[in-house]
Amino acid sequence: MDFNLSEEQLMIQQAARDFAQTELFPEVIERDRDQKFPAEQVKKMGEMGLLGMMVDPKYGGAGMDSVSYVLAMEEIAKVDASAAVVMSVNNSLVCAGLEKFASEEQKVKYLTPLASGQVIGAFALSEPEAGSDATSQKTTAEDKGDYYLLNGIKNWITNGGTASYYIVIAQTDPEKKHKGINAFIVEKGWEGFEIGTKEDKLGIRGSDTHSLIFNNVKVPKENRIGEDGFGFNFAMAVLNGGRIGIASQALGIASGAYELALKYAKTRKAFKTEIINHQAIAFKLADMATQITAARMLCFKAACEKDAGKDISESGAMAKLYASQVAMDTTIEAVQIHGGYGYVKEYHVERMMRDAKITQIYEGTSEIQKIVISRSISK
Ligand code: CAA
Repeated sequence: MDFNLSEEQLMIQQAARDFAQTELFPEVIERDRDQKFPAEQVKKMGEMGLLGMMVDPKYGGAGMDSVSYVLAMEEIAKVDASAAVVMSVNNSLVCAGLEKFASEEQKVKYLTPLASGQVIGAFALSEPEAGSDATSQKTTAEDKGDYYLLNGIKNWITNGGTASYYIVIAQTDPEKKHKGINAFIVEKGWEGFEIGTKEDKLGIRGSDTHSLIFNNVKVPKENRIGEDGFGFNFAMAVLNGGRIGIASQALGIASGAYELALKYAKTRKAFKTEIINHQAIAFKLADMATQITAARMLCFKAACEKDAGKDISESGAMAKLYASQVAMDTTIEAVQIHGGYGYVKEYHVERMMRDAKITQIYEGTSEIQKIVISRSISK
């Protein structure tokens, strides 16, 4: 692994940093308060190539490597974790899955507008009674010859209300367990497809999380991704890459909170000196800096392995497990360093603390990451 970033990677990092400061920062507190989706900003992110970063330009993508993706995700998440999850889901769960596994027709029709940011996508796996235990899902896709009949409910779907295209995972043949599961591309507006309740969340409140209701939705056969029964393996493969995105989001939340805490500690005085001169505060910052660097290295490792075409189930899970813990620990300490100011919205760190928590839950909880890692190391 090369620790020196290329000129191109540095340029992408700088562009994402500038964008985050000029476009995302100004109303981030209001969007969090009002649960307002950053629609205009997401549109601009699409124009910048941030929504299909690793996709081949022939399908509307930016053709960049995964390290660039980690760098850009960190910069966006430093300022606005809600915009970062929109970016992560579209890049890692939707575009990456389609580019790797969809048919040529599906790529032309769906991947191209998604990767170029004309529309955004969502990935629907979780259900009211099936989150971590993904094979237990109840949504069914009954084979009716030239179409499937989709019925069921999906829960906590990021981009649920704003997406135009949805990758939906459903059970076709329960007898076959995970081999009876398929993945489908479903379009918003199809008869019987209803967008359900918008969730009122603790954090990432600018992102748009909904339930989805499918009531006898006819899905054409050509919208199934891959061979019959491939849906569960598809979801697992896609989530491996998705975990790099969420790890990078967690990294960004942590480094954003750390930078604010460092700045504050250098200016705030107590007991006749800047608080960074008190070892109790300096040691907190030292821990944060070390852990954030370690999290970044894990993200880079997983990203490099992905670009090298290696199995990233272990490295993606490690990156997510560790970075999400660092995000939680760092944001809690950043609030602590800010004292009373940290507890009010104006100083941003309380939002970051709320945003951090989800990184330990979605795209596989920390406990699921430990299952993935322990299975991998015991092979
Ligand atoms: N990578 C690739 N393949 C994998 C895999 C991985 N990490 N984990 C399992 N598989 C494959 C296995 O190889 C097996 O395939 P074959 O039969 O072809 O060999 C198949 O999947 C079934 O494997 P298991 O028997 O191990 O399955 P399991 O029922 O024990 O579950 C699990 C494994 C790891 C716990 C899995 O259910 C899992 O990852 N659960 C978490 C689901 C999750 O991450 N949900 C997130 C929702 S999406 C989201 O949050 C999006 C959002 O909006 C932000």
